[in-house]
Amino acid sequence: MRSAQGVYQLYIDGKWVNSISGDTFAVYDPATEEVMAQVAEASAADIDLAVQAARRAFDAGPWAKSTPFSRAHILFKLASKVREQLASLAEVEAINTGKPIVEAEGDIDAVAEVFEYYGGLATKIPGQVNPVSSDALSLSLREPIGVAGLIVPWNYPLLMAAWKLAPALAAGCTCVLKPAEQTPLTTMMLAQWFEEAGLPAGVVNIVNGFGESCGVPIVEHPSVDKIAFTGSTEVGKSIVKRAADTLKRVTLELGGKSPNIFFADADWEASIDGALFGVFINQGEVCSAGSRILVEKKIYSKFVEAMAEKAKTIRIGAPLDRATKLGPVISRDQYERVNSYIAIGRGEAKLASGGGRPKGFDKGYYIEPTIFYDVDNTARIAREEIFGPVATVIPFDSEADAIQIANDTPYGLAAAVWSRDIYKAFRVVKSLRAGIVWVNHMQPTCVEAPWGGYKQSGIGRELGPWGIEEYLETKQVHINLSEKPIGWY
Ligand code: NAI
Ligand code: MG
Repeated sequence: MRSAQGVYQLYIDGKWVNSISGDTFAVYDPATEEVMAQVAEASAADIDLAVQAARRAFDAGPWAKSTPFSRAHILFKLASKVREQLASLAEVEAINTGKPIVEAEGDIDAVAEVFEYYGGLATKIPGQVNPVSSDALSLSLREPIGVAGLIVPWNYPLLMAAWKLAPALAAGCTCVLKPAEQTPLTTMMLAQWFEEAGLPAGVVNIVNGFGESCGVPIVEHPSVDKIAFTGSTEVGKSIVKRAADTLKRVTLELGGKSPNIFFADADWEASIDGALFGVFINQGEVCSAGSRILVEKKIYSKFVEAMAEKAKTIRIGAPLDRATKLGPVISRDQYERVNSYIAIGRGEAKLASGGGRPKGFDKGYYIEPTIFYDVDNTARIAREEIFGPVATVIPFDSEADAIQIANDTPYGLAAAVWSRDIYKAFRVVKSLRAGIVWVNHMQPTCVEAPWGGYKQSGIGRELGPWGIEEYLETKQVHINLSEKPIGWY
């Protein structure tokens, strides 16, 4: 996995290799700001080798003849390897992302579940017999799309890789996977076990590098058939444009500004906890973060006060400390970006708590859990994805008012509604324009259920049976059963 110089290498055609240029880049620990590792930096020439390897493996390698059962076995072996190595994977993930170790352990457990789920699903993708006339037999076959380019973000590094890799392999695709440049390490740990799990060379290739020099060549490569991307809306839009020239299939899981709606009749303790958990989990670096907290006016002042009080008790600390509930954000860039939004928020709304660097932390990209209130839904902090521990609290008058504010956003990834009144709660559920809606909870994510966004939050769905659909083509086969000549000429 590492060269003699200790550099983490690229994984291309079943081999660990340096990049052609010999360039490397540093990966950081966001709690100490120190370098954790050096990683080989791929650019267009390396991507071309990786895509060619994936193409050969798809067209002519043993993978082309693999059965659903053989692919299931590989996925189960990867899952059991991940479970066996859960502690070491979680530790590297926590150190590299800054997330609390307890959260990282949950993420890695979910990685194993994703491989198990798609291992099971691999053997359950039937075709269909179509009801055409009696002198023909018409079939629909499900076939893998081909070479899939998988581009992954840094907030849930190995989990977002697994959400793409597992259904792609179950479907029979081959892959070129690009982790985020901030967080490549756990994905390379996984790659160590590919051969042992039975993956033939070239089926999964891992290339590390930056967006423009490593991501763009994957998107533009003519031998790549499909792109699956999770990340910023801005990059998602550029991928759709670049993929247009070769008409690649594209699935996108992008940003959000998800409303978390609290009615006065909701359970009080659960609501305060749910408002904080919804937005501060994983330092707020979550695509589905409940970053717009909509509160009914009857309880609004008390709600803001209670949130602010409880936010002050959130334990900020080192990622490996088991008591930590909030770690540093991922990078200096993200630290500056989040702080710039806090500065904007000071001019747009009132601050209930946080807004600075926590006391006692002189190193690391730590930001206090920050709550703005009296936020107007037209404010920038209510419209733009901040992707950090920053909440905006917005008051509302009525059910209709709550729905109007909730839907007044270009995004549509997630939403939550809290109430004891099932009539009202379900009316609101049906009115929300979002791909995921929670009732009396926020953030639970199940591998069995579809995940993805309405509007500018994305295209397509991951997880569940929906996830594998995105890696399959449908072939119509028409078999003539009549032995008579067609008789046209
Ligand atoms: P990004 O969207 O630039 O990066 C995500 C992935 O895409 C990385 O692997 C990156 O190398 C790659 N990438 C970047 N530019 C690319 C391009 N032109 N073509 C192909 N691949 C490209 O996200 P970034 O810059 O790290 O974070 C900026 C903001 O994006 C965050 O503050 C947050 O708002 C949002 N974001 C959303 C995520 C989500 O889960 N929806 C995850 C990460 C970021
Ligand atoms: Mg970017």
